[in-house]
Amino acid sequence: MARKKILVIHGPNLNLLGKREPDIYGRKTLEEIDAAVRQKGDTLGLTVETFQSNHEGALIDRIQAAAGNCSGLVINPGALTHTSIALLDALLAVNLPVIEVHLSNIHRRESFRHHSYTAKAATGIIAGLGAHGYLLALEAMAEMVSG
Ligand code: DQA
Repeated sequence: MARKKILVIHGPNLNLLGKREPDIYGRKTLEEIDAAVRQKGDTLGLTVETFQSNHEGALIDRIQAAAGNCSGLVINPGALTHTSIALLDALLAVNLPVIEVHLSNIHRRESFRHHSYTAKAATGIIAGLGAHGYLLALEAMAEMVSG
């Protein structure tokens, strides 16, 4: 049976992980996180693709392209979490299971980070567990798309 494909999407500034405010976001680079995520997918019997962009439109294009060939989305929308109705609409439009991940606990931080537009499209949210959150999201996704 063909493996189900999960797309892991990283939004703006997440390409700087490792260097960017490491006390908040950790010391792992995006490349390290993506490698761990792909490996986790392998152990779960999933094919994991990853995508990062600093551009809202590119993220929307990638989400739209996932319709019909991916079984689920894991997304850390970065700061677009708190601003982007367009990203929310794209997530709603593709009608796939979505898990939103944040490295930091957004509810413990500035009040402007407490609200998530994109969470309205998410089945679940993981925040504050660092890079491990992506691996937990994949475990949950494996259950959600099985059968
Ligand atoms: C973030 C939290 C956002 O508020 C912030 O803008 C980010 C990263 C996180 O992973 O904790 O870029 O999504």
